[in-house]
Amino acid sequence: MNELLNVMHDRKSSRMPFDHIRHIPKPHLLKILEAARWAPTAHNMQNFEIVVVTDGLLLRTIESLKRPISETFVRENYAQLSFTEEELEMKKTGLLAANFPPSWRKSDFKLDKDAKEDIANLRSLPPCSAMMVVVFDPAKRAPASEGDFLGFMSLGCVMENMWLMANALNIHFHIISSLSAAPIEEEVKKMLKIPNNLKIAFTCRLGYDHDSTHKRYLRVRREIKDFASHNQYGSWEME
Ligand SMILES: Cc1cc2nc3c(=O)[nH]c(=O)nc-3n(C[C@H](O)[C@H](O)[C@H](O)COP(=O)(O)O)c2cc1C
Repeated sequence: MNELLNVMHDRKSSRMPFDHIRHIPKPHLLKILEAARWAPTAHNMQNFEIVVVTDGLLLRTIESLKRPISETFVRENYAQLSFTEEELEMKKTGLLAANFPPSWRKSDFKLDKDAKEDIANLRSLPPCSAMMVVVFDPAKRAPASEGDFLGFMSLGCVMENMWLMANALNIHFHIISSLSAAPIEEEVKKMLKIPNNLKIAFTCRLGYDHDSTHKRYLRVRREIKDFASHNQYGSWEME
């Protein structure tokens, strides 16, 4: 039991550059796909397909695509920031501001010259040795699921299964949401010959670390009593 919790706890986001010269063995890529295969999905629709990208030229081209970043994104991201590790440890949710460019750490963010420069510097993705692009058909929602809420939850289950398996294989894993937004989504779809009617749910960068001495970053979570209730919402007396 504790072993299972350890696997879940050790799963993490790895946003650093990976050693793109070191390939991921095919059996390991297949294990990650096998994990996706057994994910629970609403009505067992298995509402996903996965494009595995290992071709160096394709990877470098996708990494160099200009990812759109909107003012709305930066403003809403700001609401999740803590400015010191102590603040993050106290809040227990969100991210450390130091991970983001200086112009994004201001409450009055404007898409001015500095911000545009920051965005230009940040645009390219760090190198990796493989990507997995998970796509779905938005025309095939889970039965009567408004906005395909259940379909999206299913895609989340696929993500978690893949992530846990990658972690168990000591393969670093990084989710990239920004390839799912126009206009970059169209470019990626064209490059990978993904049919027009499909949408990119999420993309993951996979690979091995160049440098195992990377400082572990602070990962925080709320306490159980902060999100769980017992018998009545807001009531907690299990401890
Ligand atoms: C639906 C979803 C989308 C995410 N999108 C991104 C992303 O675009 N870029 C990124 O660096 N991390 C992304 N993440 C990773 C989260 O930021 C990360 O899981 C969270 O900060 C907790 O950190 P941990 O994964 O190390 O536990 C995403 C995670 C989920 C579940």
